[in-house]
Amino acid sequence: MSGTDGLDVATIRKDFPILEQTQGGNRLVFLDSAASSQHPRQVLDAMTQLYETSYANVHRGVYQLAERATNAYEGARERVATFIGADDAREVVFTKNATEAINLVAGSWGRANLRPGDAIVLTIMEHHANIVPWQMLAAELDLEIRWLPITDDGLLDRTDLDRHLDGARLFAFTAMSNVLGTLNPVAELATAATAHGAVSVVDACQWVPHLPTDVKEMGADFVVFSGHKMLGPSGIGILWGRSELLEAMPPFLGGGGMILNVTTEGFVPDAHPAKFEAGTPPIAEAVGLAAAVDYLAAIGMDAVRRHEVELTAYAMRTLTDTVGDQLTIHGPSEPAARGGVLSLALDGVHAHDVSQVLDSHAVCIRPGHHCAKPLMRVLGVPATARASLYVYNDTDDVDALAAALVDARDFFAR
Ligand code: ALA
Repeated sequence: MSGTDGLDVATIRKDFPILEQTQGGNRLVFLDSAASSQHPRQVLDAMTQLYETSYANVHRGVYQLAERATNAYEGARERVATFIGADDAREVVFTKNATEAINLVAGSWGRANLRPGDAIVLTIMEHHANIVPWQMLAAELDLEIRWLPITDDGLLDRTDLDRHLDGARLFAFTAMSNVLGTLNPVAELATAATAHGAVSVVDACQWVPHLPTDVKEMGADFVVFSGHKMLGPSGIGILWGRSELLEAMPPFLGGGGMILNVTTEGFVPDAHPAKFEAGTPPIAEAVGLAAAVDYLAAIGMDAVRRHEVELTAYAMRTLTDTVGDQLTIHGPSEPAARGGVLSLALDGVHAHDVSQVLDSHAVCIRPGHHCAKPLMRVLGVPATARASLYVYNDTDDVDALAAALVDARDFFAR
């Protein structure tokens, strides 16, 4: 038995064709789902079926095929809304990825509401996607950016939260660090933002695929995530926003599909979500995402979370016992305080070298700065070797990672 009490991993793995392959005679051990996850047959089939039977552009043609495509696309919006506990599917906007969703909030809400001298608050554990759009806006509008630090244990340091939020107009933070695995107290942070009159933006890219999500309980104003980290296809991101905010926001991109009328004098934008979906949207990607949502819902997000806590605890124990003192696991020491992301450092060995040795064992991890350079600077490392866990990973995968790390340690000790 190599699964966990949380999940029957052996059965789940059978749904993922890509995991059937071997590399150099070894079973493929995919531990890079924090970058992009793999796809169950159900997702691949849903997309193929759309292309083979019901594909046309959406919201345009009046023929039956086009209506079927539109229904599939709008049905996907409904399913995503239900999955995240949104009351109204119109609060779900499809974008090309989570990065575009954050740029949408910065470019639309930010430009319309922020003025020179205004302050926005970020945390030092943000992904570049939740830093650079704000830095671009800060340069354009002369805004102040305040940074919340982390504790030695990789948790968000909330000691000075109120001071940081005092007078701030916006607070953008990650629900879960893609480097440390740290889970942030989203509802508490969003409530603090609201109490200070700031709008809250949650980067939930690493949260929605792995934990039960209820945007109402989160209490934030905007929540973004992406399809390709939750068993869905790349090319689709999701922005959930409160209706009253979306309604008041100007469009972000202009083009077809987002207008009520256009004349030579100007245009009248449509209501949301269409207002924010200029051009042909990610049609098959939305259908694939809906199938991914159905797949995760059938497993149950509580079960997904239980599995990942159990497997993370197993991994932290096994890696420490097997590899020894030369291994550092960045981030919170308590498995329940983190998601299934393990940023590893092997003394004296660069993360890229670790990754290359691991690849020779068919173990796929991501080395690098993980698009979180300000955090890397705080950790005092140029890079980490990051292993990330998902529903198709089991204790055999962790054991293979441990054995490959021992090989890397011994190889570079020569
Ligand atoms: N954001 C993705 C990662 O953390 C790409 O790897």
